[in-house]
Amino acid sequence: MTATPYDIFNKEYHCATKFVLVDENTRKYGLPHLLQMCPTLQNARIIEICAGEQHKNLETFAQIIEQLSENNADRKSVLINLGGGMICDIGGFAAACYKRGIDFVNIPTTLLAMVDAAHGGKTGVDFQNFKNQIGVFALAKHVIVDVEFLKTLPKIEILSGFAEIVKMALITDINFWDVIKDTDLENSQTLQPLITEAIEKKMQIANEDPTEQNIRKILNFGHTFGHAFETFALENGEELSHGHAVTMGMLCELWLSEKILNFDSNQRNIISEFILSKYPKFPIQTADFERLFNILLQDKKNNRREIKPILLEKIGQPQYDLNCSQELCLEAFQAYTTFKKI
Ligand SMILES: NC(=O)c1ccc[n+]([C@@H]2O[C@H](COP(=O)([O-])OP(=O)(O)OC[C@H]3O[C@@H](n4cnc5c(N)ncnc54)[C@H](O)[C@@H]3O)[C@@H](O)[C@H]2O)c1
Ligand SMILES: [Zn+2]
Repeated sequence: MTATPYDIFNKEYHCATKFVLVDENTRKYGLPHLLQMCPTLQNARIIEICAGEQHKNLETFAQIIEQLSENNADRKSVLINLGGGMICDIGGFAAACYKRGIDFVNIPTTLLAMVDAAHGGKTGVDFQNFKNQIGVFALAKHVIVDVEFLKTLPKIEILSGFAEIVKMALITDINFWDVIKDTDLENSQTLQPLITEAIEKKMQIANEDPTEQNIRKILNFGHTFGHAFETFALENGEELSHGHAVTMGMLCELWLSEKILNFDSNQRNIISEFILSKYPKFPIQTADFERLFNILLQDKKNNRREIKPILLEKIGQPQYDLNCSQELCLEAFQAYTTFKKI
């Protein structure tokens, strides 16, 4: 039999009590493939939580701990997080806290989790209205990336994950950007090499600066303004996935890059058109700017009245720790309202 990454459950974790954390969707769509690839896990205990960001909270965290505890998980047990970023974040956090830390393995089932959330050690839950307000850095012992899981993932979720690949290309490498421009998102096999490259690039950066003191900040490109759109949509009961919000954030931050760092305007137009050809523009009005700016100020990465978005000098040349005034941020929102798909 050929070796597969799933062999760890027969070898390294042969004697460990195994728990698989799922939500209702990954139980339905992901678990059958996992059990097919690794029949040993038929004996694992399944912990099911409700799907969706609104459940990435302390209450769900407590449910996971309760299940581990009631089923006598010990220090040698392993928690297998089978799902998207929500499952990886909350599962990683529960594993890191239970009895001061048990092993966890991430098996991402969304594109976003495959290229981003499952790697790099950020775990946690949301608290009150703040995303990832409580959490710790804790690395998964293994991450198993299997594109087979993407076959059941809705297109909107594929697009959300693809946004993180676009981000990764723009902050690291113009050649990578040239490749992703022509990607067929319908075919999970063509996505495979892009996933591998995005993971490698993320891990290079995360390993250099595990706790985000300096260079790791560049991974937040598109996220400063993106989080403002995401929170704003949430407050107004509008649907906007994380990745979609990040693309809208990148549009604003590229505009600021041109303004502050002379980012090439032709290049910016090409990228903006590419984004708007795949992602509908999230609508905002002038009357919303003040609220959006206040959300920017609440972001834990910004301090006092200064906003610190990641900006690009060129593709592959990001800068961090730049300050952006209130006036410029409002101008960026204003400019955003004029962007059009050509
Ligand atoms: N830790 C990090 O470094 C990091 C990085 C980026 C994002 N995140 C976090 O990740 C989360 C977003 O992750 P996400 O976009 O994967 O969302 P998600 O985990 O909520 O998954 C999106 C939806 O897809 C469903 N789903 C998952 N896999 C499926 C499959 N194979 N087939 C069908 N449906 C499936 C889920 O049940 C859910 O309804 C956010 O909480 C964000 O904060 C963390
Ligand atoms: Zn992100």
